[in-house]
Amino acid sequence: MIFEEAGVPAFEAVNLTRSYRLEGVSVDALRGVSLRIHHGESVAIVGPSGSGKSTLMHLLGCLDRPTSGTLRVDGADVSTLDDAGLAELRNKAIGFVFQSFHLLGRTSALDNVALPLVYRGVGRAERRERARRALEAVGLAHRLDHRPSQMSGGEQQRVAIARALVGDPKVVLADEPTGNLDSRNGQEVMGILADLNTARGVAVVLVTHEREVAEAARRQIHVRDGLIERDTVSGTGPR
Ligand SMILES: Nc1ncnc2c1ncn2[C@@H]1O[C@H](COP(=O)(O)OP(=O)(O)O)[C@@H](O)[C@H]1O
Ligand SMILES: [Mg+2]
Repeated sequence: MIFEEAGVPAFEAVNLTRSYRLEGVSVDALRGVSLRIHHGESVAIVGPSGSGKSTLMHLLGCLDRPTSGTLRVDGADVSTLDDAGLAELRNKAIGFVFQSFHLLGRTSALDNVALPLVYRGVGRAERRERARRALEAVGLAHRLDHRPSQMSGGEQQRVAIARALVGDPKVVLADEPTGNLDSRNGQEVMGILADLNTARGVAVVLVTHEREVAEAARRQIHVRDGLIERDTVSGTGPR
């Protein structure tokens, strides 16, 4: 682990801000966030609703750009990348899991999971094989041809995790991944994310409202009013 600590962080943010403009009114969602997240870490981002958690996740996930400040993802300063470069970084390095799954409802689980590989130019046979393996890894080998609209919430979130995994990302970002699930399905999804971290060494950064979920991560970053209020290592969870 010493090597990873010494290496290039997965994320390095210096004084990140993000303001939204809404009908002439500016909302400062992030007001100067600095952090480092290393490869292989497990991190929970916690804080009240509206504190800027999703905004931060979208920046880390290269789904959005900061208003000011510096963000390096795997060593690359995102301000030096054009939109295509940002999309490529996102597609190669990062898997994103959303609270509301964001799957194509009428497309099979297999094709949903294979989709990121289309953008990478992977051939059809390999796409299908890799998607099948990713679905197998989340316990859905028997659901390849099902559509999300025919699946339970827990199954849909597992499909979304398989889609996040199919490109072999170094980091998985999950924004309230259990927010729309009952506690049993939530625990299953958390178990899969924890496994990813411990067995595959993938860094997992997740937003949660639930204390138990937050405490299962090794590190907790508390966000309030667009700032990091506290950054603690509990020492109990996986790395
Ligand atoms: N696209 C947007 N346009 C305008 N304001 C936004 C947008 N997204 C978020 N906000 C505002 O930014 C603040 C932080 O939001 P968000 O990052 O979603 O918080 P959280 O995920 O912690 O609930 C809130 O005040 C929210 O209303
Ligand atoms: Mg949010």
